[in-house]
Amino acid sequence: PERVNSEGWDLTHAPTLADISKGRSPFQTAEWTAAPVLSSWPENSRRRLQDPILITNPAKPGDTVGQVQNASSEDTTAAIDNAALWAADVKTRAAILNAAADAYEAHAHELFAILTREAGKCMPDAIAELREAVDFLRYYAARANADHRARGIWTCISPWNFPLAIFTGQIAAALAAGNAVIAKPAEQTPLIATRAVALLHQAGVPASALQLLPGGGAVGASLTADSRINGVAFTGSTATALKIRASMAVHCVPGTPLIAETGGLNAMIVDSTALPEHAVRDIINGAFRSAGQRCSALRCLYVQEDIADNLLIMLKGAMDELHVGDPWHLSTDVGPVIDQQAHNGIADHIETTRNKGRIIHQIAAPAAGHFIRPTAIRVSGIEEMTKEIFGPVLHVATFKASALDDVITSINATGYGLTFGLHTRIDDRVQTIVEKVQAGNIYVNRDQIGAVVGSQPFGGEGLSGTGPKAGGPHYLPRFTAQPAPQTDC
Ligand code: SER
Repeated sequence: PERVNSEGWDLTHAPTLADISKGRSPFQTAEWTAAPVLSSWPENSRRRLQDPILITNPAKPGDTVGQVQNASSEDTTAAIDNAALWAADVKTRAAILNAAADAYEAHAHELFAILTREAGKCMPDAIAELREAVDFLRYYAARANADHRARGIWTCISPWNFPLAIFTGQIAAALAAGNAVIAKPAEQTPLIATRAVALLHQAGVPASALQLLPGGGAVGASLTADSRINGVAFTGSTATALKIRASMAVHCVPGTPLIAETGGLNAMIVDSTALPEHAVRDIINGAFRSAGQRCSALRCLYVQEDIADNLLIMLKGAMDELHVGDPWHLSTDVGPVIDQQAHNGIADHIETTRNKGRIIHQIAAPAAGHFIRPTAIRVSGIEEMTKEIFGPVLHVATFKASALDDVITSINATGYGLTFGLHTRIDDRVQTIVEKVQAGNIYVNRDQIGAVVGSQPFGGEGLSGTGPKAGGPHYLPRFTAQPAPQTDC
């Protein structure tokens, strides 16, 4: 009996990670469906799709992962009309969010499969993402208290690069405080969002407290342009965040909060005292893990010129060890980018720099699927980078020891301020640089991705976001009628 889980699934036949990797999982060929989930139409997720859009695997164009029925404007109106605060007391809400965390864990294999096939996540990234989603549920459940008064209806708009973790984190914080949530997942990843909402509902979240509206920018725009919305949580591009803020200024009650986590032009400085093996490991992780599709990813590396030649030899060697390919395989380090449009934008950037003779190193990637060859490019400094290149592309600049202050000035001058990495063994230098660099998350002698809920609250400043940081003590209170002070930890 201990081999049967709470849903009666015989675990003796459940796929192991090795089975999944070798393609022996039933989820490798399964298909999922996404559609609006409205409290006024509980059966809605099972309604016949009228105008379905196919969702295909970014690693294998021929692999259909499912179909989505995007929300209509009537669906959006119905969701707002029927949204209702979660009336249960705080203990009950916390217990249900914890039960949802259990349900996510019980469905780990299915969730890994969707993350892999819909979002192109490599297995280690899929595992880390599920853990982060579970952590968000348990963390906000633990932090909810009876003094928190719900603010009202929250629009939660989440990105495709963390389609389970960030999607769940926004929702969990809003729900823990007793709000009603209308969630709009990224257009590219509605299937994982639909499964997550089903698990949250099964765990006991009422249908009127959590509704789902799959769709693109038009659905998002109508959910941020309604005077009945009491708050918006958004993670995505800086440009979209600015549009949301403008829309809310016109349509929403003054003071309606916007919590935005946006992009970054993240740098790392490696000085001549750094341990090169550690620095190279962390550069590889920061720049190429998740195919560079993290807002925290390393975009511009500054290496002190005295060690640059040696470090670059080691970096090239480490890049050559990366395996780019099918995210199902446990040995894969770098999967595809999310879609053709993303692929074209990144590939154009690489070709432009190739024409200028700036490619330092590039490794192979499969031709079919939306794969980008991981690439290192020489730049004179971060000021050359006018936009975030959201893929496996590392820009490398060198600096003289005497120019360290200028480097920091250039990094701050981008206006972004999300993550920053520093490799040095000089304690005083850590102190001065950490004080000067304007970034929400600063990491010393480690990589700059993978903030852990509760330990490393995550969020930026300037063009990178409004705060408060996700997974930190001030985030949940911002969803309540008595917001926490704007200062963050
Ligand atoms: N929270 C993620 C990280 O730290 C970024 O989105 O990598």
